[in-house]
Amino acid sequence: MNNGHEFSYTKADFTRVVDLIYQRAGIRLNESKEQMVYSRLARRLRALQIDTFGGYLRYLEQHPDSAEWQQFTNALTTNLTSFFREAHHFDILAAQMQDSNARPFRIWCSASSTGEEPYSLAMTAFEAYQSANPPVEIIASDLDTHVLETAMQGIYALEKLEKMSLERKRGFFLKGKDERAGKVRVKKAVRDLLEFRQINLLDQRWPLDGLFDAIFCRNVMIYFDQPTQRVILEKMGRLLKPNGLLYVGHSENLHFMSEWFQSCGKTTYMLTDLAKMSWGKK
Ligand SMILES: C[S@@+](CC[C@H](N)C(=O)[O-])C[C@H]1O[C@@H](n2cnc3c(N)ncnc32)[C@H](O)[C@@H]1O
Repeated sequence: MNNGHEFSYTKADFTRVVDLIYQRAGIRLNESKEQMVYSRLARRLRALQIDTFGGYLRYLEQHPDSAEWQQFTNALTTNLTSFFREAHHFDILAAQMQDSNARPFRIWCSASSTGEEPYSLAMTAFEAYQSANPPVEIIASDLDTHVLETAMQGIYALEKLEKMSLERKRGFFLKGKDERAGKVRVKKAVRDLLEFRQINLLDQRWPLDGLFDAIFCRNVMIYFDQPTQRVILEKMGRLLKPNGLLYVGHSENLHFMSEWFQSCGKTTYMLTDLAKMSWGKK
């Protein structure tokens, strides 16, 4: 035991974790996260039967190709999300779809967590096109493989739908019975609009083809420092169609990128003329 902890955990261990997750995922953890890091990684030490943080970090460093790196990353991401979170974006998106001739209308949801966000995008498509087969393609990606697995299944606790209209609940979900009581599953037609991929926004190359009408990058940029945000946002700008929109989270803004993006609604951005010209999109 150490300071009431089950595993030995020093300040130097915390600093090492901060460096490693920054290198791997671009995530900046500040001093206030010291206890959070302990409790998230203690589970990994227990699973591997390693009894000090120093030992765990040595194990990672001595095994650069180990699958444990993914577990380490998964443990340190914050995955909070909900259906139709920041609801104004779904109204803007519905209007964007209705004005668009794009077939298919292509969306990249770049930090899709457990799936509530990309499924909300798909539901918006059904409503905007008033069609059982909307001409929409959604790529949903995240760095964290655990949340991607949950998202692919599309199974949620009934309480997650508390704030949703009855019409949406009935239209887009199936209620579980017997051992699945208390759970709902997103209907297949909705799931079929989505394709899932693991993408680290920090990677130089993203496995994506073509341009997008809409890119959702919400509530992930806050974990990155400004130089990292700039690199990611410029790359996203290059992936937008000339009239495409970039949607960011409620506490994120792109004022520091005003040469590239201009605001066109609450936390919604379009490319500036300068950006379109530099990227040959005009
Ligand atoms: C707080 S959640 C936001 C989920 C959703 N976009 C929303 O706004 O509700 C942040 C997500 O970003 C993901 N993430 C963190 N670092 C990432 C990276 N470097 N590349 C891709 N995704 C990352 C996390 O795994 C997590 O699922």
